[in-house]
Amino acid sequence: MRDLPSRISVREVGPRDGLQNEHPVPTEAKIELISRLGATGVRRIEAVSFVRPDAIPQMADADQVWAGVARAPGVSYSALVPNLRGAVRALDAGFTEIEAVVSASDTHNRKNVRRSTAESLDDIAAVIALAHERGAACQVIVSTAWGCPYEGDVPEERVLGVAARAIADGADSVSFGDTTGMATPGRVWSLAGSFRMAHPGTPLNLHFHNTRGTGLANVLAALELGVADFDASVGGLGGCPYAPGATGNIATEELVHMVEDMGIGTGIDLGAMIDAAAAAERIVGRTLPSQVLRAGPRTRTIPA
Ligand code: COA
Ligand code: ZN
Repeated sequence: MRDLPSRISVREVGPRDGLQNEHPVPTEAKIELISRLGATGVRRIEAVSFVRPDAIPQMADADQVWAGVARAPGVSYSALVPNLRGAVRALDAGFTEIEAVVSASDTHNRKNVRRSTAESLDDIAAVIALAHERGAACQVIVSTAWGCPYEGDVPEERVLGVAARAIADGADSVSFGDTTGMATPGRVWSLAGSFRMAHPGTPLNLHFHNTRGTGLANVLAALELGVADFDASVGGLGGCPYAPGATGNIATEELVHMVEDMGIGTGIDLGAMIDAAAAAERIVGRTLPSQVLRAGPRTRTIPA
């Protein structure tokens, strides 16, 4: 086996990416889920997004959710923002880490935030400047990085161009989002590899959806490149409201289950994450796709 990172950093995105695509759940239930996640050992949680409440009613109570969360020591919480107005709201709410999102594909960006990619990039330059002025860090998430549900393949040069522009404007880190699960391992090697060659000093996060069953294979491909920062959602919650057929992220407990058995640390207690996934399932009232939630860890035994 090639040299793999000895540990990875996991950002739990279920409360944002997950819940934005479920039937709205009560504010209290969101607070309960975020609080439970804060006790699993995960060190980063994307808690909410500050978007138009009529565009995504599921996030309309972002301020109340954030105010209600008992912040766990050692956990950093972040918020996703689609524009400058969202960044102002997030910073006013006290977030010190924000994620500004832009799609590499124009069509998806217009569906998502009603702007061209170029218009969003101009706005994001102002988002980054404002975040820095207020002492906060800003990651730029490049969505549809491995393809767009409307346009199909998105040329790698276009994705890298969007990332390069964000870095030139001061982005502290970049994330590539596989919005609708179009990545496969070879494509991960190609795009993430090219990015790392071009921007060796910029931290890279990868955000995979398991829409076509390649999520954990993509993680393994990325580990082989030395990438050590991944998004995942508890239970496999998630999707994209502007991408028909989209499904959840890779499930956090499946990611932990796989990499810990390979000797790669996450700091996450697998049992606690599986319990949180069971709670997430109760909260959203539907069966979630996580197979580790169904089957338990590989060493679970049943009475003979
Ligand atoms: N939060 C709350 N309100 C916002 C807002 C934000 N982030 N951004 C804009 N608004 C308000 C403006 O204040 C304005 O209100 P007013 O009419 O009372 O003055 C109104 O919305 C229109 O502003 P505009 O700049 O024209 O925004 P828009 O209508 O083009 O919407 C977005 C753009 C980005 C706000 C909207 O498309 C959106 O929220 N998209 C989120 C998509 C998402 O979350 N996708 C999943 C995550 S990737
Ligand atoms: Zn996503």
